Amino acid sequence: MTGETLQIGLAGLGTVGTGVYETLCRNHDLLEARTQIPFAVKRVAVRSLARKRDVEIDPALLTDNWQELVDDPEIDIIIELIGGTEEAYRLVKAALLAHKPVVTGNKALLAEFGSELFQLSAETTTPLYFEASCGGGIPIIQSLQNSLVCNYVRRITGIINGTSNYILSSMERKGMTYEDALAAAQRKGYAEADPTLDVNGWDAAHKALILAMLAYGTPVSTENISVYGIDRITATDFRFAKELGYNIKLLVVIRHHADKDALELRVQPSFVSRKHLLSSVYGVFNAIAVHGDIVGETIFYGRGAGKNPTASAVIGDVMLAMRECRHPENHSGFHPYTKRLKVLPQEETVTPYYVRFLVQDRPGVIAVIAAELAKYDIGISGTMSSPRKGGDGGEGTCDLVFLLHACPWGKLCEALRALHVHESINPHPAVFRIETLNEEA
Ligand code: HSE
Repeated sequence: MTGETLQIGLAGLGTVGTGVYETLCRNHDLLEARTQIPFAVKRVAVRSLARKRDVEIDPALLTDNWQELVDDPEIDIIIELIGGTEEAYRLVKAALLAHKPVVTGNKALLAEFGSELFQLSAETTTPLYFEASCGGGIPIIQSLQNSLVCNYVRRITGIINGTSNYILSSMERKGMTYEDALAAAQRKGYAEADPTLDVNGWDAAHKALILAMLAYGTPVSTENISVYGIDRITATDFRFAKELGYNIKLLVVIRHHADKDALELRVQPSFVSRKHLLSSVYGVFNAIAVHGDIVGETIFYGRGAGKNPTASAVIGDVMLAMRECRHPENHSGFHPYTKRLKVLPQEETVTPYYVRFLVQDRPGVIAVIAAELAKYDIGISGTMSSPRKGGDGGEGTCDLVFLLHACPWGKLCEALRALHVHESINPHPAVFRIETLNEEA
């Protein structure tokens, strides 16, 4: 701390940056009363000085060069909200080297460069805070770092992308098309600048890597996680899911297999029983279930994206950074404490499945599929069918749904490949895992 009033440098004045600036102004007195530390925003770095802003801000605060924040000896803390990875990496690295604590919400940055940046943070004794990187306004990072610290985490399952959950909810409840629902999520400021990462599962995967790293004390990287997105889900699958008592959610599964000393790490649209709380998480809301050996099951729920919820998480970190400014060595941070854990190959991960084939409505088709599954020792727990009346697939075709007992993913893929040779069966079935969520680990 250089003076009486703690000075903040804010880099990025997009959706979240604007929320942070507005809240720091609007709730300034409350924050000072709670922390007993006077503070001010000294400088705000933006990409373009010319751009018209939705927030009232003194133009004298603005600069289009974030380096000025790092070089300013009066600035004590830097908030990185510029997004992307390369420039953000340069900014965070420069700030840590200048011994300025950094608050970031940048999950892609941490998923890619987290190990290096946490090491730099430890070497420079300069804290790096990242509550806003996961779950929007949900305080999951500090909970894992502090409140749940005595637990061996058995598993974490959750919905951690607000945009995709908003899209799935709108398709399921309002019958909206995928495209219209995505456009609405973008208008509401939930989606990333490039929404590809939201819908292809990678935004959730980046967050999952951060959670896994914290929960298991081990660095994990993007090659370690299996990722599927929501862009191929159809109204037909929502309809079958509902009839069967499930909802479809983009689910993150992080599970420790103690017998194999390995982590299961995956993100994919899954069937979730309507009896489980996660199935009724709708809209932009996220929910993260953490099962610890001491605490048992906990579920964290809240808005997972958007200007104000994310600003709330960022400011929580800023206040923590202000409190820890005089004693940065006390910061809990991230210190890897175990060897790099093995990650279970996707082929070996085991769940029950829902598989929907589009077939020619001919005698014997069910028998062909059942026989092929049997060859791979895959049991069937139920079937459903529904003829198609025109539209996609056309007359004379039929949706055949098979509910399958738990088996390794690799075995299911082999069985499905073997079915490619049958002309009456479309070679691209819809496949969803059915997640079993209530079992004891
Ligand atoms: N695009 C992200 C989401 C923002 O939709 O969850 C919050 O990380």
